[in-house]
Amino acid sequence: MPSFLIVAIDGGAASGKSSTSRALGERFNFLHVDTGSYYRAITAELLRRGLRTDQLDAVKTALPDLIFGTRVEGRAARMEIGGRVVPEPEIRGPGVTAAVSHFAAIPEVRAALLAYQRGQAEVARAHGFRGMVMEGRDIGSVIFPNADLRFFLHADVEARARRRELEGRADAVAERDRLDATRKTSPLVLASGAIDIDSTYLNLEQVVDKLSALIAEKLG
Ligand code: DC
Repeated sequence: MPSFLIVAIDGGAASGKSSTSRALGERFNFLHVDTGSYYRAITAELLRRGLRTDQLDAVKTALPDLIFGTRVEGRAARMEIGGRVVPEPEIRGPGVTAAVSHFAAIPEVRAALLAYQRGQAEVARAHGFRGMVMEGRDIGSVIFPNADLRFFLHADVEARARRRELEGRADAVAERDRLDATRKTSPLVLASGAIDIDSTYLNLEQVVDKLSALIAEKLG
C-alpha cells in the first residue's frame, strides 16, 4: 500500500478536471494542484509586464526573474510569484484565458515550470497530506508519468462549451484545445496507460465516484 499517492488528471478545457480534483482532494485529504492556474498566473504576470505572446526573446529574458513559491490554502496549492498570489479573478479573466495557451506553448515557459510542478509532491508531504491530485494537460505524460493513477477526462466539445457558458465565462474551448493539442512541447494527449473517462453524460458526482473507487482500491 503506497504511503503517499499521486493522482494525475489530464483533459481538455472545461472537461471537469478542477471540480473533480477538488472533490477528490476533499474526499481523500489530498493536496489539489491545478497546474492550469500556474500557467494562468505566469500569463497574468507576463501580461502585467507588458509582454505579448509573440515577443519570444523578451519572454525568455523575463522568466528567470519570476520567483515561484507555494501557498497552501485549505487543500489547494496556490502559486506565488515574487511572494504574491495572483488573484483568481485576474487569472480567470478573458485577457489571460485568451493568451494562456499561446504562452504555454513556449518551451521555455514549460521548462520554467517543470521542476516546480514536480516539487509540489514535497509540499504536499510536508503539509501532512495523504497524497496529491494534480490536474493539467501533460501530468500523466510528462510531469508524473509514474503517478500511482493517471486519468484522462474527456467530454464532447459542445457539452464543455455549454459548461463555460453556464458559468458565464468567455472561453474559446475548442480553440484552446486545438492550440494545446498541436503544440510541439508536451501537447495535450491521452498518455499511454492512462484511464480514459468520458464524462459527457455523467454528472460531477458520478465522475468523482468512478475515480474514487479506483483511488480507494489503491489505498487499500
Ligand atoms: O486548465 P486550464 O484551462 O485553466 O489551463 C489553462 C491553459 O494552461 C491551457 O489552455 C493550457 C495550459 N496548460 C498547459 O499547457 N499544461 C498544463 N499542465 C496545464 C495547463
